[in-house]
Amino acid sequence: MNQPTVAVIGLGFVGLPLALSYALRGVQVIGVDVNEALVRSINEGITHHTESYGDQPIQTILTKELESGRFYATSNWEDLPSSVTAYLVTVGIPTTEDGTILSQPLLGAVSSLASHIKREDTVIIRGTVVPGFTSHEIAPRLSISGLMPGVDFHLAYASERIAEGKAFHEFEHMPLAVGGVSPACTEAAVDILTKVTKAPVTHASCMEVVEFAKVIENVQRDVNIAMVQEFARLAEAMGLDIYEIIMVANSHTRVHLLTPGPGVGGYCIPNAYHYLAPVGERLQVPLPLTSIARVINENVPHVIVEQTEALLSSIPVSLPKARVAIFGLGMKDFSSDDRLSPSVEIAKLLYDLGAEVRAFDPLVPTKYPFSVDTPEEAVKEAHVVLFLTEQPGMRTLSYHELRKQMHAEAIFIDTRNITSSVDVSMFNTVWKI
Ligand SMILES: NC(=O)c1ccc[n+]([C@@H]2O[C@H](COP(=O)([O-])OP(=O)(O)OC[C@H]3O[C@@H](n4cnc5c(N)ncnc54)[C@H](O)[C@@H]3O)[C@@H](O)[C@H]2O)c1
Repeated sequence: MNQPTVAVIGLGFVGLPLALSYALRGVQVIGVDVNEALVRSINEGITHHTESYGDQPIQTILTKELESGRFYATSNWEDLPSSVTAYLVTVGIPTTEDGTILSQPLLGAVSSLASHIKREDTVIIRGTVVPGFTSHEIAPRLSISGLMPGVDFHLAYASERIAEGKAFHEFEHMPLAVGGVSPACTEAAVDILTKVTKAPVTHASCMEVVEFAKVIENVQRDVNIAMVQEFARLAEAMGLDIYEIIMVANSHTRVHLLTPGPGVGGYCIPNAYHYLAPVGERLQVPLPLTSIARVINENVPHVIVEQTEALLSSIPVSLPKARVAIFGLGMKDFSSDDRLSPSVEIAKLLYDLGAEVRAFDPLVPTKYPFSVDTPEEAVKEAHVVLFLTEQPGMRTLSYHELRKQMHAEAIFIDTRNITSSVDVSMFNTVWKI
């Protein structure tokens, strides 16, 4: 079978495992990323990602594929061979903390791409975007090449639906949704995508449908989580366990409630509302439900900080005099990704309020002023443990032993339901969200 040469643009949490997924199937892949330090470390076989495929960690796959010559990374577009006929763009649209959309990284990548595409090439946008972005922003920039999308080359949007930590498996097994400038563009994109994906493919009528669907796939999680956060407050006031209530509700086959936690983080869910809001404003369609869900979720770290302060006053210790042990800084359980992480936000809020914060996370590579390397360092003389993100090994730690190294009076604050399976009976107070 004739294999295309593929370029994956953006080598982050999505792009690197996606590129390696093609290489694993014998496809020649070149990864392009503006981050030169990242490119250097990838070419040396180094990544902090926690992905694996079968029993092979991503580090092993990366080393093997570099050695095979099927994959390499570059920051220089001129390194791309003319044999490249398919471009998979995984650069995203970050948002600032106040929700401002930063489309420059994606538009920059597209402008570079415009000077490389050739007749008959296929460009597939895979990052999550504002609905309409591929038609209104990307297509005109690619046309600067003198080539017309849908006429001279293929342009399609195929949402990326993987979850970090399951990337290799989900590239293969997660159903795809694809929409092109024309049916021929959709088919060309499907042809490239199904070199890796073996799951069903939905052919949409246009790119906007897939873009919109992707954003609301994320927004519905934001709304679902905001709803259970609200229910958690009510359950607490009623003296009931929200996790048990959710477990019972989810025994209904058509109910799928998510769980409460320290807030909602990462690159996907918090951004989603901010991608919809400008479209709603432009078309004068209010989005009150999705807007309030965002406000609720953004406020959860503050709720946790207020709760910490209130519980500490019962010991009694004031926040500026408190030593706080934090377990987990990742934006979700078992993730090294700490972008827009509510756990980091809670740590920073407490730190800024004067508490002595020591945070342990075995996966997050970022070194914060409050980062420590072991659970023992985190709990030493601490007045409170805040369990914010579960990471490998945290469930099997002896909290009994760790408690002995803490202050005589100590509190356990649980935002991940860890206390349903670890013994925290030796803490003076245990509070679970
Ligand atoms: N992380 C996830 O689990 C996930 C899941 C589904 C969808 N997505 C979506 O996929 C997209 C990518 O997410 P990610 O988590 O991989 O982001 P990321 O930040 O980890 O990766 C993006 C990469 O693009 C690079 N980049 C920026 N500008 C560039 C340019 N001009 N040229 C080349 N490279 C450039 C960055 O250096 C970075 O390495 C986003 O739209 C995100 O919403 C992410």
